[in-house]
Amino acid sequence: MNAGPPMITLRSVGLMLGARPILKDVSLDVRPGETKVILGGSGSGKTTILRLILGLYRPDQGSIFVGGEEITHLEERDLAEIRQRMAMVFQNAALFDSLTVRENVGYRLWEQDLLSDEQIDLAAIESLRFVGLEDTVDKMPAELSGGMRKRVGIARALASGATTLLYDEPTAGLDPINTCMVSRLIQRLKTKDVTQIVVTHDLDTAYRIADRIVMIASGCILFDGTPDELRRSDMPAIREFLDPGSMPPDWRVIPKPDVVDEPAG
Ligand SMILES: Nc1ncnc2c1ncn2[C@@H]1O[C@H](COP(=O)(O)OP(=O)(O)OP(=O)(O)O)[C@@H](O)[C@H]1O
Ligand SMILES: [Mg+2]
Repeated sequence: MNAGPPMITLRSVGLMLGARPILKDVSLDVRPGETKVILGGSGSGKTTILRLILGLYRPDQGSIFVGGEEITHLEERDLAEIRQRMAMVFQNAALFDSLTVRENVGYRLWEQDLLSDEQIDLAAIESLRFVGLEDTVDKMPAELSGGMRKRVGIARALASGATTLLYDEPTAGLDPINTCMVSRLIQRLKTKDVTQIVVTHDLDTAYRIADRIVMIASGCILFDGTPDELRRSDMPAIREFLDPGSMPPDWRVIPKPDVVDEPAG
C-alpha cells in the first residue's frame, strides 16, 4: 500500500436529502492501493457516500477530493474526466441483457473509443480470465448465475482501466461459496494496484477484505480503523452491531446530564 496522499478524501461532509440530514460531518480518507470497507446497517448512508464520491450528489457542507483534486463544486464536464478513473460494481451487477459477456466487459472501453476492437477484446478477455470466467465470453448475461454476473461486473470494472473500484454490496444475495469467491477476488485485486472502496453490511466480508474499516450509523462515522481495532472496540453501538443482542435492552438510553438541584427556599 502506498503511503502517499489520499486517493479519496471526504472532509466534514454534510448532506440533506429532502428535509432530512442523511450524512453528518463525515470525514474519511482512502489511500492509494487501500481496500477500505464502509460498514453499516441498512439506511445508514453507505450508498450515499459512493454517490458523493462519484459526484452524483453534491454535499451541502464540507468538501470532497479525488486524487488530490477538489470535486465539490466541479462542473459536470470536468466530473466526467474524474469519473473515468473510477468504476462502480453495482449490487445487481447491472449488465446489459442484450449484449454478450465480452461486449458487456468491453463496453466502457468501446465507449471511450481510444482502443481498437482487437485491443478491447484482449482487455475484456484478460479481465474475464482474472475473475475465472474466460469461457463465458460469448454467453448472454441471462445464462449466468448471480455469482457469475457479479464477477462479470468486477471484470467490467477492471477492464475499464479505472484505478479506483467502488463496490455496492458486492456479496449481497450470494450463497457462502460465491460470497467467498467474490471476497477472494477483491483481495486478489490488491495486487493490481487499484484502490477499492467496498460498501457492505456483511461483517465477515468486511473482515476478510478490508485494510481499514469505516463504520457508519445514521449518517455519522462511528469508527475508522483496522479490522483488529474494530474487533477490540468496546463502544456499545459497535458491540451491538458486531454481536446483535449482546447489549442490555436499554443500552441506547443516553443518561441525562446531572441536574443540579436548586437550593430549597
Ligand atoms: N434520493 C433520496 N431522497 C431522500 N432520501 C434518500 C434518498 N436516497 C437515500 N435516502 C435516504 O438516505 C438514507 C441513507 O440511504 P443510503 O441508500 O445511503 O443507505 P445505505 O446505507 O446504502 O442502505 P442499504 O444498506 O439499505 O443500501 C436512507 O434513510 C434513505 O432513505
Ligand atoms: Mg445502499
